[in-house]
Amino acid sequence: MMETMDLSARGALAGKTYLIRTFGCQMNLHDSERVSGLLDSYGALEVAAPEDADIVVFMTCCVREAADQRLYGQCNSMKSLPTAPSGRRVIAVGGCIAQRDGDGLLVNVDNVDVIFGTHAIARVADLISQAFIDGERHVLIDEEGIAPATDMPWHRATSYHAWVPIMTGCNNFCSYCIVPYVRGREKSRPMEEVVDEVTGLVRTGVREVTLLGQNVNSYGRDLFGSPRFAELLRRVGDTGVERIRFTSSHPKDLLPETIDAMADVPAVMPHLHLAVQSGSSRILKLMNRRYTREDYLGLVGRIRDRIPGIALTTDIIVGFPGENEEDFLETLSLAREVGFAQAFTFIYSRRAGTPAAEIPDDTPHEVILDRFNRLVSVIEDTAHAFNQHELGRRVPVLVEGVSKKDDSILQGKSPKNQTVHAPLPKGASITDLVGKIVDVDIDRARTWYLSGAIAGVAR
Ligand code: SAM
Ligand code: SF4
Ligand code: F3S
Repeated sequence: MMETMDLSARGALAGKTYLIRTFGCQMNLHDSERVSGLLDSYGALEVAAPEDADIVVFMTCCVREAADQRLYGQCNSMKSLPTAPSGRRVIAVGGCIAQRDGDGLLVNVDNVDVIFGTHAIARVADLISQAFIDGERHVLIDEEGIAPATDMPWHRATSYHAWVPIMTGCNNFCSYCIVPYVRGREKSRPMEEVVDEVTGLVRTGVREVTLLGQNVNSYGRDLFGSPRFAELLRRVGDTGVERIRFTSSHPKDLLPETIDAMADVPAVMPHLHLAVQSGSSRILKLMNRRYTREDYLGLVGRIRDRIPGIALTTDIIVGFPGENEEDFLETLSLAREVGFAQAFTFIYSRRAGTPAAEIPDDTPHEVILDRFNRLVSVIEDTAHAFNQHELGRRVPVLVEGVSKKDDSILQGKSPKNQTVHAPLPKGASITDLVGKIVDVDIDRARTWYLSGAIAGVAR
């Protein structure tokens, strides 16, 4: 029975065209690669424009409020497109808004055909097929026993880099954050499975992997024998992959043994994303972050002692309920003291159902906006200052493509995750260089990128 349904489901998608629009974090980017892999395996073909697509999938994020409005707008805009090539367009919504709202979305968005939760990705192709076959709307949020997304085919955006989820979910319940409610509790993948996956990726030519989890530092706590993240880093280092990155790290769980592994394993890149959220211990307590300003600064000191020159990046929220000018000044001074190489800065967004949503706050929006702009300006200063250290250095750059503004300029990433630009050598083709590592002699350091000239041959 299952077999028959599977075959007819596959038949319904063969030759159909699809487009996936992804919002939110790397988890969603990776989930989209899995959705894409499944649709490919059913014979569907990816296209670049929504008017050419029979299937449009939105992978949604609800970490901040604006995302909801954006989804409604995007779904509505589908109504004005010309008829789909196959005569019918199926719209599917997945990701965190789908998980949070379930069939409630059917009411808010009248042209959605399929809704699938963050744990139901393995079934998305079947659900879309059914929608083509029976013309009904299908919703699947949770189902016991469905295959984990990590067992599914995937379609990577690039041949040289791969996202590798090492765990899903989050147990931290920071008081402002919706993620634990839409992604569930932490669940780690067995270490052998991760190592085997990276080994396989290296064989296919992958040079850089990014290990993914909401808090990679608590990797393995739920597994038999409680393997630790430091051990995983060393094992992944042994696969021969040339560059290892990971995100995110919660400061409260970053153990000295992890800092040692980062320092010892040559493939682990000298960059750490360590979300601080606020520089005020009072606000950090209200945020349920479980570290103080002093703990964070102490940790940064230990990391810098062991890995001199490391690039530290962060996430910061401005306007958490009850944040006053004094708290905010502590955030500014912490940002200056650490000298962040980059920061994702957010204005606090109230998320219904989270504890912080209950904290009253009457700070005017203009005050919060003013603080946000002051923070951005401090981060610009620290990022600019950080990049100055690279002047005069020869930096190995993993080539990603050309600059968006000028296709005669090659663009790639340094080990510290800085964007690097260099003029393409005469007669060189960017297609041959993508995924290669070239040395660049840095002669210019701007706030958000470095530039220089290519030295020697690509490898
Ligand atoms: N797990 C990661 C960590 O703790 O480093 C963060 C994941 S979260 C998807 C990315 C960032 O979104 C958070 O670090 C936080 O700065 C921001 N964020 C989460 N909830 C928010 C909210 N309600 N309002 C504003 N920013 C928020
Ligand atoms: Fe959200 Fe905190 Fe979990 Fe990060 S650690 S996903 S900020 S609850
Ligand atoms: Fe957004 Fe979900 Fe990621 S809420 S930030 S897509 S885990």
